[in-house]
Amino acid sequence: MTSFSDNLLGWYDHHQRSLPWRSDDPNPYYVWLSEIMLQQTTVKTVIPYFLKFIETWPTLQDLATSSLDDVLVAWQGLGYYSRARNLHKCSQQLISKHAGQFPKDEKQLLQLPGIGPYTAAAIRSIAYDQPAAAVDGNVIRVLARYCALTEPRPQLDKKVRERLVAFLPDKKCGDFTQAMMELGALVCRPKSPDCEACPLQGHCRSVNDPESLPTASIKKKLPTRYAVAYLVQREDGAILLRKRDEKGMLGGMMEVPTTPWLDQKPGPNVVKSHAPLEVVGWEVLEGYVKHTFSHFHFHIHVNRIQVSDQSDHHQAVWVQRENLHQKALPTVMKKVISFGLEKVK
Ligand code: ADE
Repeated sequence: MTSFSDNLLGWYDHHQRSLPWRSDDPNPYYVWLSEIMLQQTTVKTVIPYFLKFIETWPTLQDLATSSLDDVLVAWQGLGYYSRARNLHKCSQQLISKHAGQFPKDEKQLLQLPGIGPYTAAAIRSIAYDQPAAAVDGNVIRVLARYCALTEPRPQLDKKVRERLVAFLPDKKCGDFTQAMMELGALVCRPKSPDCEACPLQGHCRSVNDPESLPTASIKKKLPTRYAVAYLVQREDGAILLRKRDEKGMLGGMMEVPTTPWLDQKPGPNVVKSHAPLEVVGWEVLEGYVKHTFSHFHFHIHVNRIQVSDQSDHHQAVWVQRENLHQKALPTVMKKVISFGLEKVK
């Protein structure tokens, strides 16, 4: 009887997608970069970002000597910006402490910024062909179904890891890791899995109702937070942006000024007290921008404010519309700016 890994690897040889970070001779820098980008994001979204990064910073050394601002600008739209800050920090530590090489040892990998158990295992297996168990959402789905594991997450994760360790081959470990993910993405999909095309058919213990596994975890209802954003424009059209604190959410990114982000819509006193000075025109826009972060929904009301040309603002910069793309603006702020500008009469 052929083993789990033989069946899977045979299938992967014929069905794997050609992706820009894949190669018979993997570049650890590409493997790491792609794995960080692929957390919380789809392959389709990641490809253009990955290509842009390796064009701009062809080597780890190039990335380590770049500015964090440039990295944040290139990361715009991928979300979870702490990943970009850790990526930059990690590249610098690899140069300063590890002679520019990714360590092969799990403990050392786990000490690097942004590298957790999943990424460490992905790097060890894909870049260095070591038998390491990389458990991501795809792997959890495939093995919960294959082994009929019915417990909810997070208890499920531990069981999946145990099973995965038992299935690891001693050769082609990188292909095995990627084959598990590929099977989850292409065949053992969350909805309408293609069991007919599965290389593991005949051994899978949930053929009758694969979609019922893994057991859905109880989703917490997300709270909503509120703010008023000030789309401040000078007479020549330039927009006022400021930099967020390096620490915390969207750290180091640019934003239009806002009131504090609160549990209720800010009242008029709060809105007035946080507004820029020297206002010559003020318009409260109808409607609001909605954005969802991983842990809360966000409703942003927008006030358009005109100030005179001479206005200068501490720790803020004036940016012309055509130069906005050069700034590290998170998606939520891009939405606020487009919303505000679209409403211009
Ligand atoms: N998701 C996470 N890592 C991946 C990889 N290396 N290839 C495809 N999808 C992935």
